[in-house]
Order: sequence, then structure tokens, then C-alpha cells
Amino acid sequence: MRGDRIECAYHGLQFDRTGACIANPSGNGQFPRGTRVRSYPLVERHRILWIWPGNPADAEASAIPDLHLIPPEGGNDNLGNYLHVRGNWLLEIDNIMDLTHVSYLHDGSLGNPTMRGGQIKVRETPGGIRADLWMPNTLCGFGPMQGQPCDQWNNVEWMAPSIMVLDFGAVPPGAPPIQDPGGYAFHVFTPESETATHYFFGSSGSYSDEEAWKADFVREAQNRVFLTEDNPMIEAIAERMGDAEFWSMRPAILPSDAAAVRVRRRIAKMCREETD
Ligand SMILES: [Fe+2]
Repeated sequence: MRGDRIECAYHGLQFDRTGACIANPSGNGQFPRGTRVRSYPLVERHRILWIWPGNPADAEASAIPDLHLIPPEGGNDNLGNYLHVRGNWLLEIDNIMDLTHVSYLHDGSLGNPTMRGGQIKVRETPGGIRADLWMPNTLCGFGPMQGQPCDQWNNVEWMAPSIMVLDFGAVPPGAPPIQDPGGYAFHVFTPESETATHYFFGSSGSYSDEEAWKADFVREAQNRVFLTEDNPMIEAIAERMGDAEFWSMRPAILPSDAAAVRVRRRIAKMCREETD
């Protein structure tokens, strides 16, 4: 970006918000044909750029998911993490919406075997679809109480098209399950293609310089776990699926997949409605 212009990194051509080329450093003021680019409606909100790639007339800023839990700029926070994933974005939704995978895939990092057996409750919310996993009398999987007896929870809410917010926490057994404001995690997926996805993630909590280690602690864990535990699994699934359509493979659906299946169906419905 150059102010409110976008500058091409190749030859320095600059474009304004309409897509018109308004600066050409090597062209003696000339603009060759074809230097206009397509522009897209864009809104900056919650420290994220929301681009509408469809018909500009259909852009609706009120459809942007509510991510007010993302802290404002200025503090020490854990935001802006990124992974490039060789897999379809819906596989990422399957992963995040199935909270039970934490006790297996993340055994020893975010989870442990005591967290198995919890019942997931799935429900519709005004903004999307929510899954709640309450795990009483277990050993804490992650955070300051890791390894200690606790009641813990791991809940997730999906908002269209591909944004998920987790709220997680742990308290001593029997204590009120009060949510820590820093205990929200954000997962934002932008499809690059049918077979590749941009994965942006982070967490709530904005800390002073003295407590910046808290943000760093979660950042290190998220990056390590997502890169070395989730990502190889997602990419292995994607590789095995190849070009096959998901439902045509008659996937085994576990009870813990209820939320992910609801989301897949909702997205399919939204796609149908948009193309009708
Ligand atoms: Fe995971």
C-alpha cells in the first residue's frame, strides 16, 4: 500500500480504489492499455480486510461476522498468525468444529485422554452454528492449570462463511466456569482454490509489556500445534481425497462431526441460494 493506493511490486504501477492506474514511474506519464485492474468492495473491520469477490451490487457489509473479541491495535497480542494449507477450506471447518480431536490428535500438547467422552451439544445461534463441549472432572489440557484436576470447556461457534471463534477455559472442579477474556481463539480461513487455503489464526487478550509473555506463550503453542499436528492431518486427508467430492466418498460420520455436518449443509444451502 502507498497511502490509499496499491502499488505493484513488479514495476511500481499504482492503482486507486476504482482500479484505475494513476502512476507509472517508468512510462513518462503514459498509461498503456490494460493497466486498469478489477476492483472489489472492501471493508476493514476487526483488523481484517473483508473483500467481496462477487457482484459488487450484492456486497453487504452487515454480513461480516461479529469479531469484536479481536482486541484493538496497541497492546501485546497474539494475532496475525498464518499457515498456507494444501487442502480444501471445508476440511478446516471439519477440523475446528470437531472439538473431540483435541484429546487425540493433540494428546500431550493441548489435550489428554481424560478429556475423552465429553458430550457435545450443537445448536443454531443468530450468527451461525455452535458446539459446546463441557469436560468436568478432567485434567486440564492447556494453560496455567495444565495437568491439574479441573472442570474445563472447549466451545466453538462458526460464522459464515469460514470464521470460527473458540472459547475455552478451565477452573478447579466445582468452581463457576467463568470465561477468561483472553481465552478466545480465532480461526479464519480464506479459500485460495479448491485445494489450497489461507489459514489466519490468533487469540484474544491484549497485554502490557510486562505480560507480553502471555500472548507469546499462546502464539508459540498455536503455531507449533497447528503446524505439526493439525496441518499434516488435514493435508494427508486432502491428498487421499484427491478430486473426489466429499459426500460421494460416503464419509464415516461420527457423533462428534454433528456440528461440522451442520455447517457443511448450511454452506451448501447458501451457495445454492446465491447461484439461484
Ligand atoms: Fe486441532
